[in-house]
Amino acid sequence: MNKTDQILVTGGNGFIGSHIIDFLINNGYTSVISLDNLSGSNYGNNLNVNPQCKYVYGDLGNLAFLDKFFSDNQISYIFHIGANGNVPYSNDFPTVDFNSNAAGTFNIFNLSLKYKIKKVVFASTAAVYGVPESTPVSENNPLNPVSNYGLTKLYGEKLAIAYYHTYGLNCNVIRIFNTYGPRQPRYVLYDFIKKLNANKTQLEVFGDGEQVRDYAYVSDTVKAFYDVMLSEKNGEVYNISGGNPINLKQLIVIISEILKIDPVITYTGKSWPGDIKILNGDISKIKREIGFEPKVSIKQGLEKSIEWFKENNYISVS
Ligand SMILES: NC(=O)c1ccc[n+]([C@@H]2O[C@H](COP(=O)([O-])OP(=O)(O)OC[C@H]3O[C@@H](n4cnc5c(N)ncnc54)[C@H](O)[C@@H]3O)[C@@H](O)[C@H]2O)c1
Repeated sequence: MNKTDQILVTGGNGFIGSHIIDFLINNGYTSVISLDNLSGSNYGNNLNVNPQCKYVYGDLGNLAFLDKFFSDNQISYIFHIGANGNVPYSNDFPTVDFNSNAAGTFNIFNLSLKYKIKKVVFASTAAVYGVPESTPVSENNPLNPVSNYGLTKLYGEKLAIAYYHTYGLNCNVIRIFNTYGPRQPRYVLYDFIKKLNANKTQLEVFGDGEQVRDYAYVSDTVKAFYDVMLSEKNGEVYNISGGNPINLKQLIVIISEILKIDPVITYTGKSWPGDIKILNGDISKIKREIGFEPKVSIKQGLEKSIEWFKENNYISVS
């Protein structure tokens, strides 16, 4: 990938996409384009914008628009990050999820063939595993998604691998477990901060607090995407996680220490449909083949994230 190659980041106004854009621009790439329909962010789109990136508004499900976009630009590489990333939403609004994640990915891969894209890296999810047979979850675990989101992402993955084998399209898939950091629009850190902001003395937690997750700080995830793009490997699927699983109770202890608060915790006992009790990733493949090594500890990552929430006035507790 040359520094002047045009690089498309779909979902570039979102959490992970915006960090990929910042990373590319900070590393000297001069022609970065985001394509996004602005459906994902909770923060107001100005916070995720890099002045050196070109932003295009559009929907991944709109083939006619996308075809014109590709013919108007000279894209060489694609980080295909844009999607509905919200599991409960995918079950409530399956058509939107299907349009963005399945049809949108179909469009991106077909146009990648038509416009001779050099390589695509596709953001998938650990939700494709469903309830894992064993943990840590390796890439060989059976794929039995239990949400619409997991199903539409699995379709995108299968498309990527099929197009590599059938048409020789260079591409790889990254199954993200849980990535967190500044600009994250949903999930546990966001939820806790929102609730604590409303009342720092109490925190209601979905489930029993024993749910285990394997959090990667966003800069580690971004580096993995970049290295997988640069790698000679193609047609591969890689897990990415922090490699250091913790449960929600432990997470709350660290967040409370950073915020210097001591809330009374209540557990609902019941979680949302599609939630999985223990989800930690086996990242030995990406370590071995790509040289991935998570660099940011959960405490460091939470400190940086909370600092961002404070700086941007999303948090007033402390
Ligand atoms: N954050 C995580 O922990 C996590 C975990 C697993 C997988 N992923 C995947 O990583 C990717 C990025 O997730 P994120 O956490 O940054 O979420 P995000 O919602 O912040 O980013 C997704 C972006 O895609 C855009 N988008 C959605 N539908 C679109 C459409 N039809 N057309 C154009 N743009 C569209 C949204 O506006 C948003 O800016 C997603 O593909 C998600 O499925 C994320």
